Amino acid sequence: MDNRIKTILAASLLFAAMVANAQPKLREDNIDEILKALTLKEKASLVVGAGLGSEPGIDLINAEPVRVPGAAGMTRSVERLGIPALVLSDGPAGVRISPTRKKDKNTYYCTAFPTGSLMACTWNTEMVEKVGQAMGNEALEYGVDVLLCPALNIMRNPLCGRNFEYYSEDPLVAGKIAAAMIRGIQSNGVGTSAKHFAANNQETNRTNNNVIIDEQVLRDIYLKGFEILVKEAQPWTIMSSYNKINGKYTQADEWLLTDVLRGEWGFEGLVMTDWTMTRNTAEQVSAGNDLMEWGMNGQVREIVRKVKNGKLDEAKLDICVRRVLELVVKSPTFHGYQYSNKPDLKAHAQVSREAATEGMVLLENNGVLPFTNKGQIALYGVASYDMIAGGTGSGNVNKPYMTNIHFGLEDAGFEIDETIAEEYEEYLSHKKNRKKGYVMTGEPAWKEMAVKAEDIRARVADNDAAVVTICRQAGEAGDRSIEDDFNLSALELALITDVCREYHAAGKKVVVVLNIGGVIETASWKNIPDAVLLAWGPGQEGGNAVVDILSGKVNPSGHLTMTFPLNYTDVPSSANFPTDVKSGFFSMVKTMSNGNKNKGRKDFDYTEYAEGRNIGYRYFGISGENVSYPFGYGKSYTTFSENALGEKTVKVTNTGSVAGKHVVMKFDEKGELVAFAKTRLLSPGESQVVELKY
Ligand code: GLC
Repeated sequence: MDNRIKTILAASLLFAAMVANAQPKLREDNIDEILKALTLKEKASLVVGAGLGSEPGIDLINAEPVRVPGAAGMTRSVERLGIPALVLSDGPAGVRISPTRKKDKNTYYCTAFPTGSLMACTWNTEMVEKVGQAMGNEALEYGVDVLLCPALNIMRNPLCGRNFEYYSEDPLVAGKIAAAMIRGIQSNGVGTSAKHFAANNQETNRTNNNVIIDEQVLRDIYLKGFEILVKEAQPWTIMSSYNKINGKYTQADEWLLTDVLRGEWGFEGLVMTDWTMTRNTAEQVSAGNDLMEWGMNGQVREIVRKVKNGKLDEAKLDICVRRVLELVVKSPTFHGYQYSNKPDLKAHAQVSREAATEGMVLLENNGVLPFTNKGQIALYGVASYDMIAGGTGSGNVNKPYMTNIHFGLEDAGFEIDETIAEEYEEYLSHKKNRKKGYVMTGEPAWKEMAVKAEDIRARVADNDAAVVTICRQAGEAGDRSIEDDFNLSALELALITDVCREYHAAGKKVVVVLNIGGVIETASWKNIPDAVLLAWGPGQEGGNAVVDILSGKVNPSGHLTMTFPLNYTDVPSSANFPTDVKSGFFSMVKTMSNGNKNKGRKDFDYTEYAEGRNIGYRYFGISGENVSYPFGYGKSYTTFSENALGEKTVKVTNTGSVAGKHVVMKFDEKGELVAFAKTRLLSPGESQVVELKY
């Protein structure tokens, strides 16, 4: 190469280097400067997600190199100005990423913590914050910048498929528990995304369902939880929901996202959409939805086009870009955090177990619990041997293991009837190897195994007691059914009835354990067994946590944050909730595609919240009349007294014979919950003065 060319090359490289150096690089204190330096196309790219590129195999559109396989999505980078791409990952019960990676001998398992409904039933914001700290640490150490949780939509109806990851029928509980989770997670320097804002209370046709609702009811019941968490915890982000409210997509509702969320409540963070196909992108930007996830390249082009043709005000785009940059400069990625990919899963498993025992609810106990001797137990129910940690969909967690009651009892020194165990293991064996297909979505509940009455009878003599576990599964993209789901199946009822008849005839006791994600019918059978323990979706340590309670190692202190009605049709919203739609992911995709065919279809195309404020205890009350179990209900192995020392001060005393924790709840004159607090573990005779804050 002759000297002239070399000189030109050197000069141009020097010029390029000078230009590069002359360009500002993003810092925490120069966002205005960066905004001015960004081109229109760069601005448009920053408010559109980088696609599903993080999902191996469905790399539809990936504008960024995949950094954390299995994460839900990413934002986009602008290398020229030192703006990195961020990683966004689910979910409410733990970090959801792929547990293995191509050509990588390491594993990337995450702790499956208990699901939202169990965490709320702890009524213990300190415990929730502790789980959040552990969960947020796993996000940090696996390279995740924003964890897409908590999920706190109101449990308007028992059949909503995602109630397992929600907290309550009451907005105060939902808001306080969510705020505690956000504080815990964000204490690690990673973000959260409180979701789904707002009124996403069914999965059927969730992407287009139009919620028709009175504004005051919307504010008092469905927005209130988000208002509480914004004011108490300032999540880095909020996720707008798929649905419409009163005819407008929440993702493009300026009243909701700008006037209320920011204007009235003072939210300082970023709003991202739920994982939506391209809709009305310019309207979304204009309304104050700052980031379109998962992000399609067409959305970038639309934004550029509409700014150029005057259909989108660039000043509105700049507001969204600013919020994206404000998020970036807070993130571990921006600060170059060297994540280890080695969080302390052992320590987090212990936190998961502790939380699981704290949120389980003892519904019935005629004295059989805790088991006083370590005899032999006859264990019935598929979930006794293959327990369900949590729900399906984005709320699933790829956990390193799952405990079950079988091994939990053995680990605690109980004998198990191996004859019965072998029958279940045989029945489950061919199913278990099907589980590999559920890595990213979670496990189904297996159909219950039928057991003949004579076979039950034949085992009675060898056992001291029996445990029957009933399980349910539910999840994203589909709602539940009434038959064989809300109501027990005939087979399940027969199992409980037959086991109780045979063991009671021999003077032996039976405990039923509910490994479920949402409310089921209980009134018709709950007095047949001697005890009923609601274990919910307890996370990976669920089997051990159940046994911690059955054995008396832990005194149950969970209380219901939702009402268990006598019958499904007693619930006011049952008059306006879909029950004739096949649930599941593919039915959702189908409805997304043929929405027009369903125009005007009640509870599908639109859902009228005609029940107004009549949600849960606001309709049924808390006395327990006319319901199977009321809001706030939960038994203990001990007893407590409450003595009011003032309007907001209560002295709680353990008046029983074993240590335990108690929840104080305060309702106002309208009968609405205004405050709650949980005591520490009180020994027999010990008191604690509780100050209620409201
Ligand atoms: C899903 C869920 C949302 C989740 C997101 C990313 O559709 O609705 O909760 O965080 O997509 O997986």
